[in-house]
Amino acid sequence: MALSLQDAYGRSISYLRISLTDRCNFRCVYCMSESMQFLPRRDLLSFEEIVTVVKTLIPAGLRKVRLTGGEPLQRRDIGDLVQALAALPGLQELAMTTNGSHLARWAEPLHRAGLNSINISLDSLQAERFHHLTRSGRLADVLAGIAAAAALPWARRRLNALILRDRNDDEIVALAAFAEEQGFDMAYIEEMPLGQIQEHDRALQQVASAEILATLEHAWGKLTPLAWGSGGPARYFQRPGARQRIGLISPHSHNFCADCNRVRLTAEGRLLLCLGQEDALDLRAVLRQQGEAAVLPAVQQALQRKPFGHTFDLEQPVQIRRYMNMTGG
Ligand code: 5AD
Ligand code: SF4
Repeated sequence: MALSLQDAYGRSISYLRISLTDRCNFRCVYCMSESMQFLPRRDLLSFEEIVTVVKTLIPAGLRKVRLTGGEPLQRRDIGDLVQALAALPGLQELAMTTNGSHLARWAEPLHRAGLNSINISLDSLQAERFHHLTRSGRLADVLAGIAAAAALPWARRRLNALILRDRNDDEIVALAAFAEEQGFDMAYIEEMPLGQIQEHDRALQQVASAEILATLEHAWGKLTPLAWGSGGPARYFQRPGARQRIGLISPHSHNFCADCNRVRLTAEGRLLLCLGQEDALDLRAVLRQQGEAAVLPAVQQALQRKPFGHTFDLEQPVQIRRYMNMTGG
């Protein structure tokens, strides 16, 4: 097989999102249920195994890696992994998605180790509400993390908010304004039906991207759609004259599967071919039983079964039992 990462629909896969752990110090109401069982630590891929996978896929076209969780900063010695990945020739972007709660300590060392792009989740600027939405988080920790990150010259930096009706939809404009002030792009994510949650009815609390855009335009006037993309699913807009980009991630209202360029590696080494489907390749077994040389052919073969897309439907009982903390944002 040629040295490439193409699926059966002709899409080239250049982006790997790697969940480093399913653990998190938060319990966001849309992401987890109240009580969660986490993977035993011995089931996680080692840093060495992760580096091997990335190194093997770069010659076939891998260009971008995002480290995520759970909360990736829960993984001890994370700086060593970032440094090892950043040293691999051919990788153009090394990004992380984090809840920001440990960033006051980690932003600078990670940037120095070679991380060049950072997304921080922030759903509210009100301490009590923030605590409620995360079931445990302290807003002050995250704001300190954002301030530490804001001081560094990232190639890209963004805050992410998941907006829920009657929970934080009154903060849409305030969140973007805060992000702008701190020098971050801002993205809004529609909630996806991953894992069974009891806390709220996803269909009732969904706020569609179009409504978010309308709210911003009501405050600011017309936003200009940008042709620019970050290599992910967000569609971007901009206020005339502003530096900040506004991203909308719309798995429901604006399906982005046709342009999919990515696959995901779970913390225990399952290569998920699509976020919205269960089919996966057990890459940990390939690595441990067949060795490094078997990785690329196994991935190329699995990509032939990558489905065209997800079929999320909030009116149906949840189809995907895996929670978002298995794959990260
Ligand atoms: N749907 C969409 N995004 C989610 N996230 C967590 N759970 C979900 C879900 N069910 C997002 C968070 C955070 C990132 C880690 O993943 O908002 O930004
Ligand atoms: Fe943790 Fe992120 Fe899930 Fe919140 S959304 S519980 S911060 S992994």
